[in-house]
Amino acid sequence: MAKNQFSAIILAAGQGTRMKSPLPKVLHPVAGLPMIQRVIHAVQGAGGQEVRIVVGFAKDLVRQVVEPLGATCFIQKEQKGTADAVHSADLATLDENVLILNGDHPLLKAEDLRRLFQDYLESKADLAVVSVELSEPGSFGRIVRSQGRIHTIVEAKDASAETLKIKEVNTGIYFAKAEVLNELIPMIKNQNAQKEFYLTDLISLGLEQRKKVEVLRGPEHVAFGVNSQRELAEATRRVFLAKAQQLMDDGVVIMDPLSTYIEDTVEIGFGTVLFPNIFLRGKTRISSFCSIEPHTMIVNSQIGESVQIKAGCYIDSSKIENKVSLGPYAHLRPGSSVGEEAKIGNFVELKNVHLGARSKASHLTYLGDAEIGTDTNIGCGTITCNYAANHKKYRTIIGNHVFVGSDTQFIAPVKIGDHAVIGSGSTITKDVPPNALAVARGRQVIKENYTTPTEDKKTSSSKE
Ligand code: UD1
Ligand code: MG
Repeated sequence: MAKNQFSAIILAAGQGTRMKSPLPKVLHPVAGLPMIQRVIHAVQGAGGQEVRIVVGFAKDLVRQVVEPLGATCFIQKEQKGTADAVHSADLATLDENVLILNGDHPLLKAEDLRRLFQDYLESKADLAVVSVELSEPGSFGRIVRSQGRIHTIVEAKDASAETLKIKEVNTGIYFAKAEVLNELIPMIKNQNAQKEFYLTDLISLGLEQRKKVEVLRGPEHVAFGVNSQRELAEATRRVFLAKAQQLMDDGVVIMDPLSTYIEDTVEIGFGTVLFPNIFLRGKTRISSFCSIEPHTMIVNSQIGESVQIKAGCYIDSSKIENKVSLGPYAHLRPGSSVGEEAKIGNFVELKNVHLGARSKASHLTYLGDAEIGTDTNIGCGTITCNYAANHKKYRTIIGNHVFVGSDTQFIAPVKIGDHAVIGSGSTITKDVPPNALAVARGRQVIKENYTTPTEDKKTSSSKE
């Protein structure tokens, strides 16, 4: 292993009873990613060569998430405490330096661990624990010092009132030499209020065995562990806020960063304006000078420059070119692409559709499995009837410069040539050649004097 690399053991076997949730705690998402995925990313980004995850509660679910990320799972049969969990990770097959940490610390970053690992190497310790100072140390284990040196860690549950006043706490992050772990972990006993094997006992045991034990100071956020729904919401809020702040530093205009929810993977160009209550997810890329109004959700989509997205739009796996105007209340379903300067208006749904440059679908329309050329106008209330009684989907092809009158249905498969005109209210079942007019509706019939005006007269005379 290179000098700046290490192995890591992530503890994730607990159920997380305080979450009151059927999902294992470490799989709860924080701003779109399961919290354990965030921990794994931080470890790998910091030089964690080999990542071992200790699983137990709902182990198959956890395995499904962590193995594709390159981690290896080790089973802890019974959740008998954090030291027992470490013991389950086949310590004999580890060498050099080992990082141990909890799977429920989603705010950890690669740079935190990189820096802490350097501090550990420089300290030349056999074993080190990372501490932080908290104004409200709550349920964290307390770092008990004597004459300035660490003496032991006491769990809050087992602590006296005096010990509970200590503000320096255990983050649950440790670095140790593999041979030290191999020697000490099997020696840990469960003589405490909870009858659990506490990993924290490693410190006093290390001192007893004359190992060099050090405390490394970390930034406050590395201590942030999620043990309850309230802490999960707080972690999510902090991750979203950090992303919004980073984007603002790059020139994105965010009116209310606390009510703007942008996942880590999203990219946004400078000069784009985000109104409140916007959710941007996955591999979404938004270019510069766009405006995105409230209550819009964008997932895995590409948005060009100077695009105006009005209130209430939902855009999923679609591509929008420069200067498009969209919404309010437009729904772009997967596989849709909208050409430059096109316009999609209110209550328009697109699914697997290409709408060409400068074309318009301004009102109340469903376009599915369709290809629409440039400069074409799709009238209000148009429907592509793509789903047939045989449960198959068929395509509608509409050319350039076509005028589709309002309330038209295209019974797919059907093809409309360039410059064609479709009369309002038509149900188009056959292909229309270029430059043609197609009208497919019942003729208007007039029957004069069809009703007698007597009733009206009665009503109006009784009013007099
Ligand atoms: C632990 C520390 C505490 C520290 C805090 C930091 C111990 C005894 N206490 O407390 O000093 O301040 O973390 O957040 O270590 N787990 C297993 N198997 C088990 C028990 C737990 O894998 O048998 C896993 C959990 O899934 C979790 C992690 O270990 O990811 C920590 O367990 P948790 O119960 O959250 O410990 P804390 O009470 O937070
Ligand atoms: Mg915890």
